[in-house]
Amino acid sequence: GGNWRGLIEEFGDRLPVTADTPVVTLREGGTPLLPAPALSQRTGCTVYLKIEGANPTGSFKDRGMTVAVSKAAEEGAKAVICASTGNTSASAAAYAARAGLTCAVLVPQGKIALGKLAQALVHGAKLLQVDGNFDDCLALASKLALDYPVALVNSVNPYRLHGQKTAAFEIVAALGDAPDVHCLPVGNAGNITAYWMGYTEDHDAGNAKQRPRMLGVQAAGSAPIVNGAVVSQPQTIATAIRIGNPASWTKALDARDASGGDIRAVSDRDIHRAYLLLARSEGVFVELASAASVAGLLTAVTDGTVAAGSTVVCTVTGHGLKDPDWAVTTAPQPQTIPVDVEAAARSLGL
Ligand code: F0G
Repeated sequence: GGNWRGLIEEFGDRLPVTADTPVVTLREGGTPLLPAPALSQRTGCTVYLKIEGANPTGSFKDRGMTVAVSKAAEEGAKAVICASTGNTSASAAAYAARAGLTCAVLVPQGKIALGKLAQALVHGAKLLQVDGNFDDCLALASKLALDYPVALVNSVNPYRLHGQKTAAFEIVAALGDAPDVHCLPVGNAGNITAYWMGYTEDHDAGNAKQRPRMLGVQAAGSAPIVNGAVVSQPQTIATAIRIGNPASWTKALDARDASGGDIRAVSDRDIHRAYLLLARSEGVFVELASAASVAGLLTAVTDGTVAAGSTVVCTVTGHGLKDPDWAVTTAPQPQTIPVDVEAAARSLGL
């Protein structure tokens, strides 16, 4: 609503903060839970999209970052550091700027979307491109945080997960209960862990009658949890989830098993199809990784894992404008015309 105050002020009694915690917020959270009529018709389910691209920096990472950076400030940190496939670095850079902290980010060289790079740079982060993948970046950032006075704000930081669990609270509040199924993309596996924590807390508090089955979705070329083995050279067009050794691997398995859910892989082709379906049939522009949740739902309906009639929420984790290159280069080249009504009409097929 119009008076939304951000997560710490909305959910402070359910977060690890006290009256002494300085609140570093950009008024994140309170994102739309949008009915998805085209997807509902196609699946026979009642499908909603949790539009996390509507957060201040355009991804769900802001939920975790408001808590992680507030706690870092409370603990007297002067600098924060993270490894990132792009969104975490964008969010950390913005919240650090807000808090007056230095921000250092390590990203895999050439493998993060342009919009995310732009965000980290404009917010003044010290950005290093590492000649390695995300998993290498996280190992480096973790070592630096051990040896130097800098707070790690990756999702191995428990405050991140507490912030991110609030999306489940918002969904339960909007629907009056948890959905039957919750779909989301899985990379480092922090978010699936956080949602499961949120749904479980809401259930234990009596706010929800049920907990959802958790349906996590990895890209086929970066599917260590599905394969049961580390992927040393992860590949996928969905660069946000190009991760071969997720930090929260066992917690994701716990969420899957305790919920009677599933973690599955989808092809890049299916991710791209879902990306276009969301853009063209629902009017929702997401980044490729976010479309994995919908691609996973579609395969789960086809193979009977999700039954018709289910209430389903798909988290779409990041805004499509994060990765404008992809949208433009894969679309047909726009025509150029003279300043002429008839030429315009002809080109438009009117
Ligand atoms: N979707 C998007 C858009 C992401 O940026 C990420 C993770 C995920 C899904 C997966 O979430 O890691 O909690 O399983 N991005 C991280 C980053 C790794 O550095 O921005 P996860």
